[in-house]
Amino acid sequence: MSYNMKEILIATTNPGKIIEIQSCLGEEIKLLSLKDFASIKEIEEDGKTFEENARKKALGYAKSSQCLTLADDSGLEIDALNGAPGVNSARFSGPKLKDEERTLIDHRNITKVIKLIENVPQEKRTARFVCCMCLASPEKIIIESTGTLEGIIINNEVGTNGFGYDPIFFVPSMKKTVAQLTQNEKNSISHRGKAIRALKEKMKYLL
Ligand code: IMP
Repeated sequence: MSYNMKEILIATTNPGKIIEIQSCLGEEIKLLSLKDFASIKEIEEDGKTFEENARKKALGYAKSSQCLTLADDSGLEIDALNGAPGVNSARFSGPKLKDEERTLIDHRNITKVIKLIENVPQEKRTARFVCCMCLASPEKIIIESTGTLEGIIINNEVGTNGFGYDPIFFVPSMKKTVAQLTQNEKNSISHRGKAIRALKEKMKYLL
């Protein structure tokens, strides 16, 4: 069965992610969101790895929507915390809240991270954002890609752009936190930007 590669369901309701994905994929691809499929059943992110969750969501939502579906799973790995919060990044300080309460949960997650590493010296505060993407049809996985961004966790929030852990994630090469970057600057270095560009490169052969 062949699918329209110019129309893709993005399996997220996070507006921050949708904006980043649209600006990386470009206008020639029309993105549908889960909000376009009101009765679609939510798929639980219960995998042990980012890859597992991305695959599960892409295949699951492709089956229920009958559209090509792009899913990502992403998060923050802090070396001093043995890779935590990892796949639990969104739920680190408690269960995922509704979309409207995203800022509140982001703030609680940040507070928990700062507390846990308050005594960790600067040189041991290395961390990375990881993003795994999976494009699937209702029948099978079509393309997968991964991107990472290395940085340092700082002790207080700096900057107001972006979402999630951006205000405490300092990028040495930019001398700024991710929350101080413009959308274009973030896209050019971010884990999600890298994963999307790798995916887009592979999509060229299918378009
Ligand atoms: P997901 O929606 O299950 O992929 O959850 C990812 C979680 O990881 C988000 O809720 C954020 O807490 C964190 N995260 C992922 N990407 C980013 C980013 O680009 N900036 C800041 N936090 C991020």
